[in-house]
Amino acid sequence: MATKKKNNTIKLNFDTVRNYAPALESKSAATIKPQYDLFINGKFEKPLSKKYFSTINPSNEEKLSEVAEANTADVNRAVKAARSAYEKVWKKMAAKERAKYIFRIARIIQEKARELSIIETLDGGKPIRESRDFDIPAAANHFFYYAGWADKLEYAFPNRNANPLGVAGQIIPWNFPLLMAAWKIAPALATGNTVVLKSAETTPLTALKLAEIIQEADLPAGVVNIITGGGETGAALVNHTDINKIAFTGSTEVGKIIQKATAGTNKKLTLELGGKAANIIFEDAALDEAVEGVINGIYFNQGQVCCAGSRLYIQESVAKEVIKKLKDRLESLIVGDPLDKNTDVGAINSRQQLETIQKYLKIGQQEGAEKYESSCALPQKGFWCRPTLFTNVAQSNRIAQEEIFGPVLAILTFRTDDEIIEKANNSPYGLSAGVWTDKGSKIFNMTKRLKAGVVWANTFNKFDPTAPFGGYKESGYGREGGLHGLMPYVNLSNK
Ligand code: NAI
Ligand code: MG
Repeated sequence: MATKKKNNTIKLNFDTVRNYAPALESKSAATIKPQYDLFINGKFEKPLSKKYFSTINPSNEEKLSEVAEANTADVNRAVKAARSAYEKVWKKMAAKERAKYIFRIARIIQEKARELSIIETLDGGKPIRESRDFDIPAAANHFFYYAGWADKLEYAFPNRNANPLGVAGQIIPWNFPLLMAAWKIAPALATGNTVVLKSAETTPLTALKLAEIIQEADLPAGVVNIITGGGETGAALVNHTDINKIAFTGSTEVGKIIQKATAGTNKKLTLELGGKAANIIFEDAALDEAVEGVINGIYFNQGQVCCAGSRLYIQESVAKEVIKKLKDRLESLIVGDPLDKNTDVGAINSRQQLETIQKYLKIGQQEGAEKYESSCALPQKGFWCRPTLFTNVAQSNRIAQEEIFGPVLAILTFRTDDEIIEKANNSPYGLSAGVWTDKGSKIFNMTKRLKAGVVWANTFNKFDPTAPFGGYKESGYGREGGLHGLMPYVNLSNK
């Protein structure tokens, strides 16, 4: 892989890296039905709308299955089932019994991890390595973690009674389909609520597999209902009068619509929206590690991550060196078939998302930034974008301010601590940030002053069910994960 050049420097031979023999995960280890109905009251029910829509594999545009499109009458049915299960069964059940069901769901997810990973990759386009090593294990871990809290709420909220809210309506996006379902369902069940969850239109399949797992776990009918559909289905859920709580992850635009729709109602609301994370490299950082972290932070999941490190700030004295290293590393990323275990960068989730990214690539060039992209070949079919970075970016440029949600990095520089704080915080968002430095004191100084819900130090994009996640400003409000993640699902009263 490495060859000695005449001038004695080692040069990576990227063609060799890219020419690794394919190591394809087998599609036959996953069962996808040609058609899925709505999961209501413990059963798969035909939609009253009588409508279905297709979900495709974004890496080759082949149809995988078709799923039901729930209309208002279908949403009403699902909410009714959830209400009835709440009143008659779930809120009355002993907490330790509730915990058993949640543990059971976690264990079945683990048993079916391989199949779920394949389906996640087929339906959403992310590399199998991501689904296999991150999404699916993290989803199981969330159920395990919250199962543990179910019968310990008196320790989570000492001297207080934690009362469930009732029925939770949950709306999730397409970038982490099963993991987002787990983030939302697990704490709701642990605190005694029932659920109607709507998956995203381009990635409904793992949520429907979760419905099958919930059946297998014998969860009482109606405690979790899983429906499919687009924005109108989501809006019908948000506007339903018998819902006590809405949890939403997605765009800031839709978050604002939901905030307006729930204002003045008694619905509790949590919103996890967009981001434009600043990844900050100081001159004293371990530069090779930092470069690897930056690559992981923006090209991981094709940059379609709300906490992606999409703005990179490099201290001026090391900027040239870091940019050179980044460009070299960009060349060695393997872009291609998401089912190949070698793949680093998979397909963009949808044509619509690809068009958004392409729009920003043009904007960046019009703004005078300098574009550099990997020279990799792209597959003929499907939705693909080369890993790209922009240098010569100004703080006010749209590519430095707006969420692109693609494998596109905007690189800026800074000189002093005060300058970087001002630049990093100059954003409508505040979800996450990263700091790379050798000095512990600098880490503490930065993490205190950065307006971001999560700040990673000398690492990036690390998640754990015990750690809360959520943002400031237009990144939304409320926290998911950890002890904090129980709060949005309870009303506290004095003992
Ligand atoms: P979106 O916000 O439209 O979709 C997210 C979910 O909300 C989907 O389940 C969708 O069906 C539902 N939805 C859409 N309109 C709704 C409404 N009026 N009421 C209730 N539910 C509704 O996001 P989209 O269009 O898929 O992506 C657009 C941009 O949003 C992306 O380019 C990205 O910048 C951002 N985004 C952020 C995510 C995050 O993790 N924070 C996830 C997905 C997208
Ligand atoms: Mg799909």
